[in-house]
Amino acid sequence: MARYEINGGKSLQGTVTVSGAKNAAVAILPAVLLVSGKCHIENVPNISDVHILLDILREMGAEISLEGSSVTVDCSHVRSSRPDANLVRKMRASYYLMGALLGRCGKAHVALPGGCNFASRPIDQHIKGFIALGADVDESDDYVALEPGENGLQGGRVSLDVVSVGATVNIMLAATLLPGQTVIENAAKEPHIVDLANFLNTMGARISGAGTDTVKIRGVKELHGGSYAIIPDQIEAGTYMAAVAAAGGNVLVQNVIPKHMECITSKLQEMGAKVTNYDDAIRIQRAGKLRCTTVKTRPYPGFPTDMQAQICVCMSLASGVSRLTESVYETRFFGYCTELQSMGADILITGKTAIVTGREKLTGAVVSAHDLRAGAALVIAGLAAEGTTIVENTHFIERGYESIVEKLSALGADIRRIE
Ligand code: EPU
Repeated sequence: MARYEINGGKSLQGTVTVSGAKNAAVAILPAVLLVSGKCHIENVPNISDVHILLDILREMGAEISLEGSSVTVDCSHVRSSRPDANLVRKMRASYYLMGALLGRCGKAHVALPGGCNFASRPIDQHIKGFIALGADVDESDDYVALEPGENGLQGGRVSLDVVSVGATVNIMLAATLLPGQTVIENAAKEPHIVDLANFLNTMGARISGAGTDTVKIRGVKELHGGSYAIIPDQIEAGTYMAAVAAAGGNVLVQNVIPKHMECITSKLQEMGAKVTNYDDAIRIQRAGKLRCTTVKTRPYPGFPTDMQAQICVCMSLASGVSRLTESVYETRFFGYCTELQSMGADILITGKTAIVTGREKLTGAVVSAHDLRAGAALVIAGLAAEGTTIVENTHFIERGYESIVEKLSALGADIRRIE
């Protein structure tokens, strides 16, 4: 297993280019199953979650060619509605194969997903959606099987009980080719929901309202092939911004959509970082000491839960006492707070809130990544800390961050990957 060795205390300088959005890519690649013809997709991140998905599609009969960050996928010869269970269990977002295969084949048999287990991650809202579209659902401990119910599959109305990115995506995928109209109420509004809708509409779908809490899908008979470029990764951009805020420096983060970054930007500004927005780039500078703040994670456009751990590192180095409240995944603190404490952070968790008392410095230690974002936070802590930090279990980080070691090295960080 690989680990990263980081000699901290160096400020970050230069330019970093953000890759395509992981959470958009893992929705758009399964969506190609709905398309008749070839799809050419650009700005695909080179991360292990994407490679697992491509392996799943290839194993099902898709023809795939990969060149740099561009992927061409042709699913014309896919006949199976049962993806390889061992591959499916390697990642979380493989559950999008349920919606995509239900849409393509009218049935699906998909193993329950694996991936980052920082919390209990139910899929009852996905299932509620499939049932509203007329599916019969057979759910066991290790798979979900979907078949048409006695009245067949057709558009329907679903009001989600919780705002769920995954359920919104899965219902959109399942409904795109069904007769009639589907309405998703209390839908998630994340940028990757809008990106999926834009991809499907580019290929001939009729989806409106993505990015609001009501998404309408008028079923079409067929989607045609075409080209599409995935949006930049909001969380990767935010992670580099948090790294500069914690370690200090002056970095141009390019290939970003500044509008997607607003909530993260305003918190980092409140903490004392200087942020300048350009059309598709953000400059972040931090020289003086960070100041404490209050953050509550929320679905988009709120502060993302996927930035909770990274902002916690900034809070650990800020003057004063910060409050960090998690409202999406309550148990997410446990993936990294103990590790940060071993580096000298002062964090007290009471229920959904972490009380973070800023310290003068963090100190290098041997720490372990328990999930993707927890791992990214430990890398940031290592960059900002005095001495050497070893981050173990870096395969979690490589699920979602393309070339993180190379990108940070180019900014002047002393970081290397050790097999
Ligand atoms: N929920 C339910 N029932 C469901 C689905 C969700 O109760 O059927 C609850 C969850 O337990 C959670 C809340 O609803 O409390 C939101 O979960 P959501 O479904 O939105 O999360 P997800 O789709 O499983 C995606 C991202 C996560 C990100 C969350 C929240 C992808 C592939 N994953 O997960 O990203 O944390 O939305 O924004 O898009 C990451 O990138 O590191 C990551 C974990």
